[in-house]
Amino acid sequence: MNNIEQTLSIIKPDAVERNLDNEIKEMFRNNGFSIVKEKKIQIEKSEAENFYKVHETKPFYNDLCAYLSSGPIVTMVLEKENAVLANRKLMGATNPKDAEEGTIRKKYGISIDKNSIHGSDSVENAKIEIDFFFKD
Ligand code: CMP
Repeated sequence: MNNIEQTLSIIKPDAVERNLDNEIKEMFRNNGFSIVKEKKIQIEKSEAENFYKVHETKPFYNDLCAYLSSGPIVTMVLEKENAVLANRKLMGATNPKDAEEGTIRKKYGISIDKNSIHGSDSVENAKIEIDFFFKD
């Protein structure tokens, strides 16, 4: 049975700065994702703090929020069968050092902070994260 889902993806400042957004979008399309919504924006640190609120007790929270708001990002709604899990597989491990060959983070990630891409980690969070950027 079909289980078409949507998930949120963010091309982070390190990748946008290196003009990798088109290559990364091509990787999504080549892996069967439709990019149904997309916008290039720069957010305030306070918005990054809201977006990453689930990490607020972590030691890396402040740097993470400063980083996400440090330059332009591309936010996208991706659609595909089982999109949440498929996107997590295509992104690879959070730390590019641990990511498998062929994944976005292996190919483009620089460090655990500058790991080029964010993706929702569950169907529930995908809905929240899509609303965060695309509710209008
Ligand atoms: P992301 O998938 O966007 O979700 C939270 C981000 O925190 C993560 O990618 C990493 O870029 C960043 N981060 C920094 N340090 C850590 C850490 N020790 N563990 C997990 N995520 C981290």
